[in-house]
Amino acid sequence: MSDRKKVTLRTLFSKASKNEPISWLTCYDYPTAHFQEEAGIDMILVGDSLGMTMLGYDGTLPVTMEDMIRHTQAVRRGSPNVFLVGDMPYMSYQPSNEDAVRNAGRFMAEANCDAIKLEGGKAMAPRIKAIVDAGIPAIGHLGLTPQSVAALGGFRVQGRGAAQAKQIMDDAKALEEAGASLILLEMVPDRVTAMITEAADNCLIMSLGSGPDAHGQLLIYHDMFGLYPKFKPKMAKVYGNAGEVILNGLTAYANEVSDKTFPQPENWFTIKDDEFDDLKKLLN
Ligand code: KIV
Repeated sequence: MSDRKKVTLRTLFSKASKNEPISWLTCYDYPTAHFQEEAGIDMILVGDSLGMTMLGYDGTLPVTMEDMIRHTQAVRRGSPNVFLVGDMPYMSYQPSNEDAVRNAGRFMAEANCDAIKLEGGKAMAPRIKAIVDAGIPAIGHLGLTPQSVAALGGFRVQGRGAAQAKQIMDDAKALEEAGASLILLEMVPDRVTAMITEAADNCLIMSLGSGPDAHGQLLIYHDMFGLYPKFKPKMAKVYGNAGEVILNGLTAYANEVSDKTFPQPENWFTIKDDEFDDLKKLLN
């Protein structure tokens, strides 16, 4: 069992005030959560990207609250001390403040989360405010927001043009004023991120492919270890090829079963001779 101290919002703000960057990773299952807890990761996001990485959909839109709660509960069991963020799935918050508060409340009550995250700028500020007013820490998500990928015209960098960069900066301020404790910037140019971080008064700015000048960094776990077969985003750093290790092991197993080199005596259980003799007598 981990003897780490519980990471809270206070811990995160304290790190930022000392200029110590915050580490944040996605995670969707118990064993990986255990390793992330042991490794000293500060924050975990149970992202609706699980629709792609764990459930094999082409995007995140089919993911339900039930999917999210089930995976988030498993992650919490493996990482009791990490700051745990539940990602609000498509249409769990867009329709109304009431939907937003009810579903954010489910993450807190049923999965023991520390905060929720939702996508969108100014238009979603009332949702953030309603959730925060209900006593639930909320995290915004700007830039490339996968739930709106159709409207954004694909998975591409957001804010390269001056007007769009200004829009992202205005959105960040609106979310902060609505009470967001943190804002994730995904695929936003580095200098725009630096300006948003500089302008943030009471809100931590996190970067996913958005440069070093934020309060912390987020990576997608499956991209770090070659575990997502369909593509690897340019911004991801690969820390090891677990996908290759697993594929090699599976192929070796299939071959060994086929050529009868598996199993070996250490892979099975035996019965003592006298018990076996008794068994044969019983059967006779
Ligand atoms: O669902 C997710 O993992 C996310 C990241 C892409 C930030 O929202």
